[in-house]
Amino acid sequence: ETPDRQEVVELAKRRGYLYPSFEIYGGASGFWDYGPLGTSLKNEVVDSWREMYVVRHGYEEIETTTVGTEDVYEASGHADGFADVLASCTDCGTFFRADHLVEDHTEVENADGMPKERLGEILAEEGVACPSCGETLDDARVEEFNLMFETNIGPGSARPGYLRPETAQGIFVDFQRLKRYYRGSLPFGVTQVGRAYRNEINPRQGIVRLREFSQAELEYFKKPDDEIDIAPVEDVEVRLYPVDEQEDEDGEPFVTTVGDAVEDGVIDSPTIAYFVGRSQEWYESIGIDPAKLRFRQHLPDERAHYASDCWDGETLTTYGWIEVNGVADRADYDLRKHAEHSGEEMGVFEEYDEAVVREETVADPDMSVLGPEYGGAASRIADALREKARDEPGAFGGDEVNVTVDGEGYTVPVEAAGFERREVRETGENVMPQVIEPSYGLDRIVYSVIEHSYGTDTVEDEERTVLRLPPGVAPFDAAVFPLVSKDGLDEHAREVRDALRDAGLRVKYDDSGSMGRRYRRHDEIGTPLAVTVDYDTKEDGTVTLRDRDTTEQRRVDKNEVAEEVRSVVEG
Ligand code: GAP
Repeated sequence: ETPDRQEVVELAKRRGYLYPSFEIYGGASGFWDYGPLGTSLKNEVVDSWREMYVVRHGYEEIETTTVGTEDVYEASGHADGFADVLASCTDCGTFFRADHLVEDHTEVENADGMPKERLGEILAEEGVACPSCGETLDDARVEEFNLMFETNIGPGSARPGYLRPETAQGIFVDFQRLKRYYRGSLPFGVTQVGRAYRNEINPRQGIVRLREFSQAELEYFKKPDDEIDIAPVEDVEVRLYPVDEQEDEDGEPFVTTVGDAVEDGVIDSPTIAYFVGRSQEWYESIGIDPAKLRFRQHLPDERAHYASDCWDGETLTTYGWIEVNGVADRADYDLRKHAEHSGEEMGVFEEYDEAVVREETVADPDMSVLGPEYGGAASRIADALREKARDEPGAFGGDEVNVTVDGEGYTVPVEAAGFERREVRETGENVMPQVIEPSYGLDRIVYSVIEHSYGTDTVEDEERTVLRLPPGVAPFDAAVFPLVSKDGLDEHAREVRDALRDAGLRVKYDDSGSMGRRYRRHDEIGTPLAVTVDYDTKEDGTVTLRDRDTTEQRRVDKNEVAEEVRSVVEG
């Protein structure tokens, strides 16, 4: 069932899931707030993400700043490479994402990643009209627009800074300390949940394309040839859409298991496949419809500047297929770049199973011989001899050794070169870790959960709207209603409410409107259970427990309600 987007968004706004930011001042595209229910749902989604990665895998979480210095984003490549192509209409001045214009108004299917010159040509050749004023865009200005929000650190024109476009860089920049924390032992994972900022050009997809949004990211650092054991997820079924299927006219996504995807070489990296499997399991547990979920491999020109392979989790929504997460192979790109820019060692020292013993030649030239005879070139000749001893130890085998300094050849008696052979024990080497990164866009995930849970059906001849959220993520565990707010029923109902809250359950007390209206209200916001206190409660201490999905009601002792609710919520 595909819901009507207007109705979903209307419900989300009316019931306290999502509010347009700065609404009283006319709002601004790309900014949304979470109301009480949305905040609760999002927190539940984040908690279950943490349960999966931080608790069950032990990938500990850190929290780094959202403002970063210029160095960080110059090193990471974002200052130069993190841009979309912007087209501005010369008639009305409206800005558009050039690749979106091309995709929406021409036959071109994938314009993401196309160079700006090509996009400008297509707009002119195809006579694309400005969606705002209708004039043709044949002389539109086309330029690269960096998506990072810039700021100043300190007063005046002090140091430039950027709001982070991804939480990941904080983890890479802290890597030296993290590797010590993990006692230099690969593999290990580090997670971060937090805000990211992108000054998107003309965001037009509601909560799906935001300028401020939340990410939950895992950076998994491993030795180059190591892979995670896929056994725990090998039987998980996933719908995959690899590059060759996308490039084939008749190609389409297909269902397979994680184990077969690795065995058949559909996903090259077992570690990527592992995280695809984990993502699938997690999405299903939070209410994503598996029939509306697939993992699509990035086409080569779609990949971010740091990624050598990437598989996106995509959900089918009323906006079409949207990317909710990516599992990218970042190789050693980021650590290498930060090592180059900072001059710091980012590698991890890996001990060999057995120490390697090898012979080394070192030169210790006799300057009293080299000095007088070779004049001003003596110290450069000495350096050249030391280098030669390292690179070409065999050159010291005879009576003389030849070196070249500034294009001139010198012959030095081996005795004066003062060489020595010695044994060196090597216990390990510095290895640059490889990074596999599962990165989740929480807002798109929360929105997909709402859309996929949204439905309508008929109860007692009346149509109702119902959010079939899994009990574990619904904003409330239960609602408590007094049948009427008199004859002491309200007092009894408050006691039941307090007992449930004392048991750690999230409960909404609702005494407004008819019972039918209260049930509809809580069906609409996804509360899995409703507890009603009525006249029988006073007589026999029982309450009714109503199930949101089946609408079935049964009587339960009021002292056992907390246990009953908990068993539903915890599945
Ligand atoms: N560290 C990797 C990274 O940031 P990304 O694919 O650019 O990769 C990760 O972003 C996720 O963040 C995406 O899969 C998407 O769900 C979410 N995301 C990206 N841009 C977004 C935006 N403008 N609004 C909402 N979510 C966004």
